[in-house]
Amino acid sequence: MPGDKSISHRALILASLAEGECRIRGILESEDVRSTAEVLRALGAAVPPLSNEIRVKGSRLRGLRQPRRTLDCGNSGTTARLVAGVVAGHPVSARFEGDESLSRRPMKRIAEPLTYMGAQFDFEHGDGLPMTVRGVDLRSIDWDTHASSAQVKSAILLAGLVSGVEVRVTEKSRSRDHTERMLRAMGADVENDGNQVCLRPAQRLDPIELEIPADPSSAAFFVAIGALASDGEVTLADVCLNPTRTGFLEAMIRMGAHVERAQNLIRAGEEVGTLRVRPAPLRSIRISETEIPALIDELPLLACVAAAAGVELEITGAAELRVKESDRISTVVENLRAVGADVEELPDGLRVHVSRRPMAGLVDPRGDHRIAMAFGVLSAASGNRITVTHPECVAVSYPRFWEDLRRVVA
Ligand code: S3P
Repeated sequence: MPGDKSISHRALILASLAEGECRIRGILESEDVRSTAEVLRALGAAVPPLSNEIRVKGSRLRGLRQPRRTLDCGNSGTTARLVAGVVAGHPVSARFEGDESLSRRPMKRIAEPLTYMGAQFDFEHGDGLPMTVRGVDLRSIDWDTHASSAQVKSAILLAGLVSGVEVRVTEKSRSRDHTERMLRAMGADVENDGNQVCLRPAQRLDPIELEIPADPSSAAFFVAIGALASDGEVTLADVCLNPTRTGFLEAMIRMGAHVERAQNLIRAGEEVGTLRVRPAPLRSIRISETEIPALIDELPLLACVAAAAGVELEITGAAELRVKESDRISTVVENLRAVGADVEELPDGLRVHVSRRPMAGLVDPRGDHRIAMAFGVLSAASGNRITVTHPECVAVSYPRFWEDLRRVVA
Protein backbone atom coordinates (compact mmCIF):
# COMPACT_ATOMS: atom_id res chain seq x y z
CA MET A 1 0.00 0.00 0.00
CA PRO A 2 1.21 3.54 -0.68
CA GLY A 3 2.47 5.71 2.19
CA ASP A 4 0.09 7.77 4.28
CA LYS A 5 -0.77 11.09 2.65
CA SER A 6 -1.32 13.11 5.84
CA ILE A 7 1.93 11.86 7.38
CA SER A 8 3.85 12.43 4.12
CA HIS A 9 2.85 16.12 3.97
CA ARG A 10 3.82 16.60 7.60
CA ALA A 11 7.13 14.76 7.17
CA LEU A 12 8.20 17.19 4.42
CA ILE A 13 7.02 20.27 6.30
CA LEU A 14 8.55 19.37 9.67
CA ALA A 15 11.79 18.06 8.09
CA SER A 16 12.12 21.44 6.33
CA LEU A 17 11.92 23.15 9.74
CA ALA A 18 14.30 20.80 11.58
CA GLU A 19 17.80 21.54 12.77
CA GLY A 20 19.75 18.92 10.81
CA GLU A 21 18.97 16.20 8.27
CA CYS A 22 15.87 13.98 8.37
CA ARG A 23 15.70 10.67 6.56
CA ILE A 24 12.25 9.79 5.24
CA ARG A 25 11.43 6.36 3.90
CA GLY A 26 8.24 5.31 2.10
CA ILE A 27 6.89 8.78 1.40
CA LEU A 28 3.74 8.81 -0.74
CA GLU A 29 4.77 9.69 -4.30
CA SER A 30 1.55 11.35 -5.39
CA GLU A 31 0.51 14.70 -6.85
CA ASP A 32 -0.69 16.14 -3.53
CA VAL A 33 2.59 15.38 -1.79
CA ARG A 34 4.49 16.74 -4.81
CA SER A 35 2.53 19.98 -4.36
CA THR A 36 3.80 20.26 -0.78
CA ALA A 37 7.37 19.47 -1.90
CA GLU A 38 7.24 22.08 -4.64
CA VAL A 39 5.74 24.77 -2.39
CA LEU A 40 8.41 24.12 0.26
CA ARG A 41 11.12 24.38 -2.43
CA ALA A 42 9.70 27.73 -3.51
CA LEU A 43 10.13 28.81 0.13
CA GLY A 44 13.80 27.82 0.00
CA ALA A 45 13.61 24.36 1.62
CA ALA A 46 16.05 21.69 0.43
CA VAL A 47 13.48 19.08 -0.59
CA PRO A 48 14.83 16.60 -3.17
CA PRO A 49 12.66 14.87 -5.81
CA LEU A 50 10.40 12.33 -4.12
CA SER A 51 11.61 8.74 -4.05
CA ASN A 52 11.44 5.78 -1.68
CA GLU A 53 14.19 7.20 0.50
CA ILE A 54 14.94 10.91 0.72
CA ARG A 55 17.03 13.14 2.95
CA VAL A 56 15.86 16.63 3.78
CA LYS A 57 18.31 19.11 5.27
CA GLY A 58 16.21 21.36 7.47
CA SER A 59 16.26 25.15 7.28
CA ARG A 60 15.48 25.46 11.04
CA LEU A 61 12.46 27.14 12.55
CA ARG A 62 11.96 30.44 10.71
CA GLY A 63 14.66 29.63 8.15
CA LEU A 64 12.40 29.70 5.10
CA ARG A 65 12.78 32.51 2.57
CA GLN A 66 10.63 34.94 0.65
CA PRO A 67 9.28 32.98 -2.36
CA ARG A 68 9.82 34.42 -5.83
CA ARG A 69 6.78 32.69 -7.29
CA THR A 70 3.17 31.97 -6.38
CA LEU A 71 2.80 28.81 -4.28
CA ASP A 72 0.80 26.36 -6.39
CA CYS A 73 -1.00 23.93 -4.07
CA GLY A 74 -2.68 22.01 -6.91
CA ASN A 75 -5.59 19.99 -5.53
CA SER A 76 -4.22 19.77 -2.00
CA GLY A 77 -6.05 21.41 0.91
CA THR A 78 -3.47 20.06 3.37
CA THR A 79 -0.67 21.83 1.45
CA ALA A 80 -2.48 25.18 1.40
CA ARG A 81 -3.67 25.16 5.00
CA LEU A 82 -0.58 23.72 6.71
CA VAL A 83 1.95 25.77 4.73
CA ALA A 84 -0.14 28.92 5.37
CA GLY A 85 0.46 28.27 9.09
CA VAL A 86 4.21 28.03 8.48
CA VAL A 87 4.30 31.17 6.30
CA ALA A 88 2.23 33.13 8.87
CA GLY A 89 5.14 32.92 11.33
CA HIS A 90 7.90 33.84 8.85
CA PRO A 91 8.80 37.42 7.85
CA VAL A 92 7.68 36.74 4.27
CA SER A 93 4.70 37.31 2.06
CA ALA A 94 3.39 34.48 -0.12
CA ARG A 95 0.57 34.14 -2.62
CA PHE A 96 -1.17 30.72 -2.60
CA GLU A 97 -3.15 29.35 -5.52
CA GLY A 98 -4.74 26.02 -6.37
CA ASP A 99 -6.73 24.19 -9.01
CA GLU A 100 -10.42 24.85 -9.59
CA SER A 101 -11.54 22.46 -6.84
CA LEU A 102 -9.12 23.81 -4.21
CA SER A 103 -10.00 27.41 -5.12
CA ARG A 104 -13.61 26.70 -4.09
CA ARG A 105 -12.62 25.42 -0.62
CA PRO A 106 -12.90 27.68 2.46
CA MET A 107 -9.73 29.22 3.87
CA LYS A 108 -11.47 31.44 6.45
CA ARG A 109 -11.14 28.65 9.00
CA ILE A 110 -7.33 29.12 9.03
CA ALA A 111 -7.33 32.85 8.20
CA GLU A 112 -9.33 33.64 11.35
CA PRO A 113 -7.00 32.16 13.99
CA LEU A 114 -3.82 33.11 12.09
CA THR A 115 -5.06 36.70 11.72
CA TYR A 116 -5.80 36.75 15.43
CA MET A 117 -2.16 35.68 15.98
CA GLY A 118 -1.02 38.69 13.90
CA ALA A 119 -0.66 37.48 10.30
CA GLN A 120 -2.39 39.26 7.43
CA PHE A 121 -4.57 37.50 4.85
CA ASP A 122 -5.71 39.04 1.57
CA PHE A 123 -8.28 37.23 -0.55
CA GLU A 124 -8.83 38.03 -4.20
CA HIS A 125 -12.45 36.83 -4.03
CA GLY A 126 -14.51 35.25 -1.26
CA ASP A 127 -12.48 33.28 1.26
CA GLY A 128 -10.83 30.82 -1.13
CA LEU A 129 -7.59 30.76 -3.09
CA PRO A 130 -5.82 32.74 -4.42
CA MET A 131 -4.83 34.32 -1.11
CA THR A 132 -1.76 36.20 0.04
CA VAL A 133 -0.39 35.58 3.52
CA ARG A 134 1.92 38.13 5.15
CA GLY A 135 3.78 36.64 8.09
CA VAL A 136 5.04 38.38 11.24
CA ASP A 137 6.17 37.57 14.79
CA LEU A 138 3.01 35.90 15.94
CA ARG A 139 1.44 36.00 19.37
CA SER A 140 0.14 33.13 21.45
CA ILE A 141 -3.43 31.85 20.97
CA ASP A 142 -6.03 29.75 22.76
CA TRP A 143 -8.48 28.82 19.98
CA ASP A 144 -11.74 26.89 20.00
CA THR A 145 -12.38 25.68 16.43
CA HIS A 146 -16.03 24.70 17.19
CA ALA A 147 -15.33 21.94 14.64
CA SER A 148 -12.82 19.19 14.16
CA SER A 149 -10.27 19.74 11.47
CA ALA A 150 -6.72 18.47 11.58
CA GLN A 151 -5.77 21.01 8.94
CA VAL A 152 -6.94 23.95 11.06
CA LYS A 153 -5.38 22.50 14.23
CA SER A 154 -2.10 21.86 12.38
CA ALA A 155 -1.99 25.34 10.82
CA ILE A 156 -2.21 26.85 14.32
CA LEU A 157 0.35 24.43 15.77
CA LEU A 158 2.81 25.14 12.93
CA ALA A 159 2.32 28.90 13.27
CA GLY A 160 3.04 28.64 17.02
CA LEU A 161 6.00 26.36 16.36
CA VAL A 162 7.84 28.71 13.98
CA SER A 163 7.06 31.76 16.14
CA GLY A 164 8.18 30.11 19.37
CA VAL A 165 4.93 30.92 21.18
CA GLU A 166 2.48 28.77 23.12
CA VAL A 167 -0.67 27.71 21.28
CA ARG A 168 -3.72 25.83 22.50
CA VAL A 169 -6.45 24.41 20.25
CA THR A 170 -9.78 22.95 21.39
CA GLU A 171 -11.84 20.87 18.96
CA LYS A 172 -15.36 19.50 19.08
CA SER A 173 -14.03 15.99 18.74
CA ARG A 174 -10.47 14.95 18.21
CA SER A 175 -9.23 15.09 14.62
CA ARG A 176 -6.25 13.14 13.29
CA ASP A 177 -3.23 13.87 15.47
CA HIS A 178 -0.25 13.15 13.18
CA THR A 179 1.17 16.67 13.59
CA GLU A 180 1.24 16.35 17.37
CA ARG A 181 2.83 12.91 17.24
CA MET A 182 5.54 13.94 14.79
CA LEU A 183 6.28 17.15 16.70
CA ARG A 184 6.68 15.12 19.88
CA ALA A 185 8.98 12.64 18.11
CA MET A 186 11.12 15.64 17.07
CA GLY A 187 11.45 16.89 20.63
CA ALA A 188 8.68 19.51 20.86
CA ASP A 189 6.62 19.80 24.03
CA VAL A 190 3.07 18.94 22.94
CA GLU A 191 0.35 17.84 25.28
CA ASN A 192 -2.97 16.29 24.29
CA ASP A 193 -5.80 16.37 26.79
CA GLY A 194 -9.03 15.01 25.37
CA ASN A 195 -10.04 17.32 22.55
CA GLN A 196 -7.45 19.92 23.49
CA VAL A 197 -3.85 20.20 22.36
CA CYS A 198 -1.19 22.55 23.69
CA LEU A 199 2.21 23.27 22.15
CA ARG A 200 4.69 25.03 24.44
CA PRO A 201 7.18 27.50 22.97
CA ALA A 202 9.75 25.57 20.90
CA GLN A 203 13.36 26.52 20.24
CA ARG A 204 14.22 23.81 17.74
CA LEU A 205 13.07 20.58 16.09
CA ASP A 206 15.43 17.60 16.25
CA PRO A 207 16.01 15.68 13.02
CA ILE A 208 14.58 12.16 12.94
CA GLU A 209 14.35 9.08 10.76
CA LEU A 210 10.82 8.47 9.59
CA GLU A 211 9.36 5.38 8.03
CA ILE A 212 5.94 6.28 6.70
CA PRO A 213 3.27 3.62 7.25
CA ALA A 214 0.71 2.70 4.60
CA ASP A 215 -2.29 4.99 4.28
CA PRO A 216 -5.40 3.60 6.06
CA SER A 217 -7.59 5.69 3.71
CA SER A 218 -6.04 3.91 0.70
CA ALA A 219 -6.10 0.53 2.51
CA ALA A 220 -9.84 1.10 3.11
CA PHE A 221 -10.65 0.39 -0.57
CA PHE A 222 -9.11 -3.06 -0.27
CA VAL A 223 -10.67 -3.72 3.11
CA ALA A 224 -13.99 -3.09 1.32
CA ILE A 225 -13.03 -5.42 -1.56
CA GLY A 226 -12.07 -8.16 0.94
CA ALA A 227 -15.38 -7.81 2.78
CA LEU A 228 -17.56 -7.72 -0.37
CA ALA A 229 -15.82 -10.54 -2.27
CA SER A 230 -17.42 -13.95 -2.66
CA ASP A 231 -14.28 -15.65 -1.42
CA GLY A 232 -10.57 -15.16 -0.80
CA GLU A 233 -8.72 -13.04 1.72
CA VAL A 234 -7.02 -9.64 1.58
CA THR A 235 -3.91 -8.97 3.70
CA LEU A 236 -2.59 -5.42 4.05
CA ALA A 237 0.76 -4.93 5.75
CA ASP A 238 2.25 -1.96 7.63
CA VAL A 239 -0.95 0.07 7.73
CA CYS A 240 -1.16 3.12 9.99
CA LEU A 241 -3.60 2.17 12.78
CA ASN A 242 -3.58 5.48 14.62
CA PRO A 243 -6.99 5.47 16.40
CA THR A 244 -7.88 8.87 14.93
CA ARG A 245 -7.90 7.12 11.51
CA THR A 246 -9.55 3.75 12.18
CA GLY A 247 -13.21 4.79 12.08
CA PHE A 248 -13.80 2.99 8.78
CA LEU A 249 -12.49 -0.31 10.18
CA GLU A 250 -14.76 0.07 13.19
CA ALA A 251 -17.75 0.82 10.96
CA MET A 252 -17.00 -2.21 8.77
CA ILE A 253 -16.72 -4.44 11.85
CA ARG A 254 -20.07 -3.08 13.06
CA MET A 255 -21.49 -3.96 9.64
CA GLY A 256 -20.36 -7.53 10.25
CA ALA A 257 -17.11 -7.62 8.25
CA HIS A 258 -14.39 -10.09 9.26
CA VAL A 259 -11.44 -7.79 9.92
CA GLU A 260 -8.50 -8.99 11.98
CA ARG A 261 -5.97 -6.42 13.09
CA ALA A 262 -2.54 -7.28 14.42
CA GLN A 263 -0.71 -4.26 15.65
CA ASN A 264 2.96 -4.97 15.61
CA LEU A 265 4.97 -1.80 15.95
CA ILE A 266 5.19 1.92 16.59
CA ARG A 267 6.84 4.08 13.94
CA ALA A 268 7.52 7.75 14.58
CA GLY A 269 4.86 7.62 17.27
CA GLU A 270 2.24 5.96 15.01
CA GLU A 271 0.69 2.52 15.62
CA VAL A 272 1.33 0.28 12.62
CA GLY A 273 -0.06 -3.18 11.90
CA THR A 274 -1.44 -5.79 9.54
CA LEU A 275 -5.06 -6.11 8.44
CA ARG A 276 -6.63 -9.36 7.27
CA VAL A 277 -10.11 -9.21 5.73
CA ARG A 278 -12.43 -12.03 4.66
CA PRO A 279 -15.89 -11.91 3.03
CA ALA A 280 -18.94 -11.85 5.30
CA PRO A 281 -22.62 -10.94 4.98
CA LEU A 282 -22.98 -7.27 5.97
CA ARG A 283 -25.79 -5.52 7.86
CA SER A 284 -27.22 -1.99 8.10
CA ILE A 285 -25.64 0.66 10.33
CA ARG A 286 -25.87 4.35 11.22
CA ILE A 287 -22.96 6.77 11.47
CA SER A 288 -23.41 9.95 13.46
CA GLU A 289 -21.51 13.14 14.21
CA THR A 290 -19.05 12.02 16.91
CA GLU A 291 -17.72 9.22 14.72
CA ILE A 292 -17.20 11.37 11.62
CA PRO A 293 -13.64 12.75 12.12
CA ALA A 294 -12.09 9.25 12.27
CA LEU A 295 -13.62 8.22 8.93
CA ILE A 296 -14.35 11.50 7.14
CA ASP A 297 -12.39 10.54 4.00
CA GLU A 298 -13.93 7.04 3.88
CA LEU A 299 -17.60 8.07 3.92
CA PRO A 300 -18.06 7.93 0.12
CA LEU A 301 -16.58 4.42 0.20
CA LEU A 302 -18.87 3.36 3.04
CA ALA A 303 -21.88 4.49 0.99
CA CYS A 304 -20.64 2.38 -1.95
CA VAL A 305 -20.08 -0.61 0.34
CA ALA A 306 -23.66 -0.36 1.64
CA ALA A 307 -25.01 -0.13 -1.92
CA ALA A 308 -22.89 -3.09 -3.04
CA ALA A 309 -23.95 -5.20 -0.05
CA GLY A 310 -27.63 -4.29 -0.39
CA VAL A 311 -27.91 -2.92 3.18
CA GLU A 312 -29.10 0.38 4.66
CA LEU A 313 -26.70 3.09 5.73
CA GLU A 314 -27.47 6.43 7.35
CA ILE A 315 -24.78 9.09 7.69
CA THR A 316 -25.55 12.32 9.59
CA GLY A 317 -23.46 15.13 11.09
CA ALA A 318 -21.12 15.11 8.08
CA ALA A 319 -21.78 18.52 6.48
CA GLU A 320 -17.98 18.88 6.13
CA LEU A 321 -18.25 16.50 3.19
CA ARG A 322 -19.71 19.40 1.18
CA VAL A 323 -16.38 21.30 1.24
CA LYS A 324 -13.99 18.51 0.32
CA GLU A 325 -12.37 18.00 -3.11
CA SER A 326 -15.97 17.96 -4.39
CA ASP A 327 -19.31 18.30 -2.59
CA ARG A 328 -19.02 14.67 -1.58
CA ILE A 329 -22.65 14.35 -0.46
CA SER A 330 -24.12 15.38 -3.81
CA THR A 331 -21.38 13.63 -5.83
CA VAL A 332 -22.01 10.32 -4.05
CA VAL A 333 -25.81 10.68 -4.23
CA GLU A 334 -25.87 11.56 -7.95
CA ASN A 335 -23.48 8.81 -8.91
CA LEU A 336 -25.18 6.14 -6.80
CA ARG A 337 -28.46 7.09 -8.47
CA ALA A 338 -26.74 6.96 -11.88
CA VAL A 339 -25.88 3.30 -11.31
CA GLY A 340 -29.38 2.42 -10.04
CA ALA A 341 -29.09 2.70 -6.24
CA ASP A 342 -31.86 4.09 -4.05
CA VAL A 343 -30.32 6.92 -2.06
CA GLU A 344 -31.54 10.01 -0.24
CA GLU A 345 -29.61 13.27 0.14
CA LEU A 346 -29.63 14.95 3.59
CA PRO A 347 -28.24 18.41 4.38
CA ASP A 348 -25.48 16.83 6.47
CA GLY A 349 -25.25 13.30 5.10
CA LEU A 350 -27.19 10.69 3.18
CA ARG A 351 -29.24 7.52 3.41
CA VAL A 352 -28.56 4.50 1.25
CA HIS A 353 -31.58 2.22 1.02
CA VAL A 354 -31.53 -1.44 0.06
CA SER A 355 -30.69 -1.15 -3.60
CA ARG A 356 -31.44 -3.20 -6.67
CA ARG A 357 -28.42 -5.22 -7.78
CA PRO A 358 -26.45 -5.70 -9.99
CA MET A 359 -25.75 -2.06 -10.77
CA ALA A 360 -24.75 -0.49 -14.05
CA GLY A 361 -23.97 2.95 -15.45
CA LEU A 362 -21.51 5.76 -15.87
CA VAL A 363 -19.89 7.52 -12.89
CA ASP A 364 -18.54 11.09 -13.03
CA PRO A 365 -16.32 11.59 -9.97
CA ARG A 366 -16.11 15.37 -10.66
CA GLY A 367 -12.33 15.20 -10.43
CA ASP A 368 -12.49 13.84 -6.87
CA HIS A 369 -10.00 11.01 -6.26
CA ARG A 370 -11.83 9.38 -3.36
CA ILE A 371 -15.13 9.30 -5.26
CA ALA A 372 -13.40 7.68 -8.26
CA MET A 373 -11.85 4.97 -6.07
CA ALA A 374 -15.02 4.35 -4.01
CA PHE A 375 -16.95 3.71 -7.25
CA GLY A 376 -13.98 1.66 -8.49
CA VAL A 377 -14.71 -0.69 -5.58
CA LEU A 378 -18.42 -0.73 -6.48
CA SER A 379 -17.50 -1.51 -10.10
CA ALA A 380 -15.48 -4.51 -8.90
CA ALA A 381 -18.41 -5.99 -6.93
CA SER A 382 -19.87 -9.09 -8.50
CA GLY A 383 -22.17 -8.57 -11.48
CA ASN A 384 -21.86 -4.76 -11.60
CA ARG A 385 -21.15 -3.01 -14.91
CA ILE A 386 -19.95 0.43 -13.87
CA THR A 387 -17.53 2.71 -15.71
CA VAL A 388 -15.73 5.50 -13.86
CA THR A 389 -14.93 8.41 -16.16
CA HIS A 390 -11.74 10.47 -15.68
CA PRO A 391 -10.10 7.70 -13.65
CA GLU A 392 -6.76 9.58 -13.73
CA CYS A 393 -7.91 11.87 -10.86
CA VAL A 394 -6.70 9.20 -8.40
CA ALA A 395 -3.13 10.49 -8.99
CA VAL A 396 -3.41 13.00 -6.13
CA SER A 397 -3.43 10.28 -3.46
CA TYR A 398 -3.03 6.82 -5.02
CA PRO A 399 -1.49 6.84 -8.52
CA ARG A 400 -1.38 3.01 -8.82
CA PHE A 401 -4.94 2.46 -7.63
CA TRP A 402 -6.45 0.99 -10.84
CA GLU A 403 -3.51 -1.35 -11.33
CA ASP A 404 -3.74 -2.58 -7.72
CA LEU A 405 -7.52 -2.97 -8.01
CA ARG A 406 -7.17 -5.12 -11.15
CA ARG A 407 -4.51 -7.28 -9.49
CA VAL A 408 -6.47 -7.83 -6.29
CA VAL A 409 -9.75 -8.59 -8.06
CA ALA A 410 -8.08 -10.98 -10.50
C1 S3P B 1 -6.31 16.01 6.54
C2 S3P B 1 -7.37 16.38 7.35
C3 S3P B 1 -8.78 16.18 6.96
C4 S3P B 1 -8.90 15.17 5.83
C5 S3P B 1 -7.93 15.45 4.72
C6 S3P B 1 -6.50 15.37 5.25
C7 S3P B 1 -4.95 16.27 7.03
O1 S3P B 1 -9.32 17.41 6.53
O2 S3P B 1 -10.21 15.16 5.33
O3 S3P B 1 -8.07 14.52 3.68
O4 S3P B 1 -3.97 15.72 6.47
O5 S3P B 1 -4.81 17.04 8.00
P1 S3P B 1 -9.94 18.49 7.53
O6 S3P B 1 -8.84 19.00 8.40
O7 S3P B 1 -10.50 19.58 6.66
O8 S3P B 1 -10.99 17.78 8.32
